[in-house]
Amino acid sequence: MACPICDDTGWKPIDDPTTGVRRVIRCDCWRERVGIDRLATANIPKRYQHCTLDNFAAYNETLEKAVAHAKRVADTFPVVSRGLLLEGQPGVGKTHLAVAVLKMVIERTGAHGLFYDTRDLLRVIRSTYDPSIRTTELEILRPVMRADLLVLDDLGAEKTSEWVEETMNLIVNTRYNERRMTLFTSNYLDIPEDDDPNSLLFRIGHRMRSRLHEMCEFLVLDGADYRELPTNGGVDDLVTMWKMRKKTLPSPRTGRQARAQLREPAVRDGRADLKWPGGRAGS
Ligand SMILES: Nc1ncnc2c1ncn2[C@@H]1O[C@H](COP(=O)(O)OP(=O)(O)OP(=O)(O)O)[C@@H](O)[C@H]1O
Ligand SMILES: [Mg+2]
Ligand SMILES: [Zn+2]
Repeated sequence: MACPICDDTGWKPIDDPTTGVRRVIRCDCWRERVGIDRLATANIPKRYQHCTLDNFAAYNETLEKAVAHAKRVADTFPVVSRGLLLEGQPGVGKTHLAVAVLKMVIERTGAHGLFYDTRDLLRVIRSTYDPSIRTTELEILRPVMRADLLVLDDLGAEKTSEWVEETMNLIVNTRYNERRMTLFTSNYLDIPEDDDPNSLLFRIGHRMRSRLHEMCEFLVLDGADYRELPTNGGVDDLVTMWKMRKKTLPSPRTGRQARAQLREPAVRDGRADLKWPGGRAGS
């Protein structure tokens, strides 16, 4: 059945409320159609396709604040161009929230949205990298640099090298210059020490961190590791687990001991994934 508003042209007339002039805008049916197509090509991992803001349990202030910011970004995109950098320990829901925003934005606006795990992205670029044909590298990079909204998951997880730094700087710098919104997640802490292997600064360098601060609101999520929640567990259990985590490990903002906690392995897809494999990258 044809759309009753636009007769499937994808355009509908409106009277501009400020000028009173009649003009055409995209019909909602077009946005919906495009949204479905673009969601399918956004590279969102199966494991995260269920993620929404509604099914995210916000059981403390840091999580409530993160959800509020996520909602604001999702509701106001593309008017607000400042993205988010979600920091915190494994399993607190950083990727969940980033994907929820990405999905909402694509569904509502039909924007080009893209999800990439930082290491996967670098791996893909590297695998296509051929010094004699630089175009293949660009073919992968172009959509990443041009996406209206990009999620770069697990920033800083990749071992640093000159090539990694150069590639990441190219992506972030291009998006920064074009004022394109990016949502980052990271296990690393935004602390001033650039010699601490657990600081984001150590992982990504001064130039990138400075750009990120301009591009993004930094939010620290504090909570339990949701992956450890028993199948029939609820919010009460999460609160208990979170308090236990806090007790065994002091707040991530304090002390070297706390920073060391971020070195604990995160079990992902059944494999232990060391955030910091025995000392400085490359050594
Ligand atoms: N507060 C929450 N409410 C509902 N589901 C959650 C919540 N937190 C995490 N989850 C779920 O738990 C799993 C792990 O969360 P997620 O991957 O977002 O954590 P993360 O903070 O990105 O961890 P990592 O640092 O290891 O990448 C996901 O399936 C996610 O949907
Ligand atoms: Mg994650
Ligand atoms: Zn229509």
